[in-house]
Amino acid sequence: MKKVQFYVMADNHYFSKKLWVNGPPIEGRSHTDQVLLKESPEINEAFFKLIENDTETDTVVIIGDLINCGERLCHDEFTDRLRRLQEKGKRVLVLTATHDYNGCGEDENEFVATGYGEKDTYRVQCTKRCELDEIYRPFGRDNADSRYEMSYSINVDGYRFILLNDDGNGHTDCGLDDKGNEWLENELIKAKQNGEPVLLFTHHPVITPYPVYEAVAPTEMYGRHPILKEMLMKHDAKVVFTGHTHMHTIRKITDGNKELFDIGSTSVVSAYGKIRKVTLENGFADITTVDLPEKIDGIPGGSKQIADSCFGGYYRRLIDTALEDYDAFIKLGHGLIPADKAKKYRLVIKPALKVFSSVNMSFAGKIGKKFSGLQNAECKEHKNEKLIDVIFVIVDRLFQGDAPYTPDTYEHKVIRGALLKGDKIMKTLGISLSKYVNGIDSLWTLAEPFVHNTRTGCDREIKIKITDEVTYEKD
Ligand SMILES: [Fe+2]
Ligand SMILES: [Fe+2]
Repeated sequence: MKKVQFYVMADNHYFSKKLWVNGPPIEGRSHTDQVLLKESPEINEAFFKLIENDTETDTVVIIGDLINCGERLCHDEFTDRLRRLQEKGKRVLVLTATHDYNGCGEDENEFVATGYGEKDTYRVQCTKRCELDEIYRPFGRDNADSRYEMSYSINVDGYRFILLNDDGNGHTDCGLDDKGNEWLENELIKAKQNGEPVLLFTHHPVITPYPVYEAVAPTEMYGRHPILKEMLMKHDAKVVFTGHTHMHTIRKITDGNKELFDIGSTSVVSAYGKIRKVTLENGFADITTVDLPEKIDGIPGGSKQIADSCFGGYYRRLIDTALEDYDAFIKLGHGLIPADKAKKYRLVIKPALKVFSSVNMSFAGKIGKKFSGLQNAECKEHKNEKLIDVIFVIVDRLFQGDAPYTPDTYEHKVIRGALLKGDKIMKTLGISLSKYVNGIDSLWTLAEPFVHNTRTGCDREIKIKITDEVTYEKD
């Protein structure tokens, strides 16, 4: 077998420039979302160019939420770009997901194909779920060896790529039904017989990125994922690539003998757009991260400007603005905080934000001292570090991966101490967290993976042995 390289893109959320003009409607939508809708054509294009110019890599797998919310025009423009990639010799394999259609009846999802005018939003031509097969068949399914509904299995230079469609409506389980699982198991058995190492792709997470995610949003997981996990481990499939959460994470489960990895990729157009590059060689899958290029055509400040305008950047700016210029805060908060409420509660919001912004990590450290073991002298050293800055670092890392504070850091000790104290108080008051968050009974257990990486230790890259029994050709 020869060396094979491919890219994985998740959650492109492409939105046509023809569907918005500057004004409060698009601003209100953009502010409250980590998806950068307005800049999505430029960001997608920057990545497509990067893929196009990589002469070593001829395959790209795109795993759903291709566009904003089912707008037909967005599909037209997006598929035009995919066709141009194909013309440049790239193999393009696509899955669709919930954002790619506008449901009705059984398929009801909550998305409405919308344009954004100067003052109001308006309806635009939408896409039904049943139309997606025809639109995206040229990107994978036409050349597949086997299909089950919109899922398909395809040989990529000796490897077996299996793409599982799970474009559920967000209210109920998605993923394969019983017949689909029979099809999948058959594909896994055939692949083993033919000596084809297997890689899987689907939209929703198969292994939860954070325990709290599955506890509060079970239908945002791949439907019936316990069945899938068991089947993949039984047939020695090691890796599944997923998206949907917009969180860049690598997680692992093991039954003590076999391991399964879920490689989650952040959205191409989220706060810090990233894609995955994978090299298959000598029995290993070497999985890395490719960041958004610094220079982006059409965006003068490039990736830096994108990072500043992102979700975390916006909330940070909002708080700072509230303290400096409350009227500007009301304007900036459009779409998030109704102007009448912001005006009415001015005397509560502004002082509350002022107090919150002024809490330093020295003070925070003293709260849970008994549980963290921190000494006063160590706490004092952090009097110039603000709690709010620590919180925003954690929020930023939530999407780009690799939670920031390892157990040896002061910040980790402070948060752990404070939350263990919180656990003790809740126990004394007889409050059970698991009543609200299924299966989690401690604030610290809930928060720990957000503070430091308790998954595989690194969300950016990993090298996984996927097969023992392959003879590789030298280049
Ligand atoms: Fe998405
Ligand atoms: Fe999604």
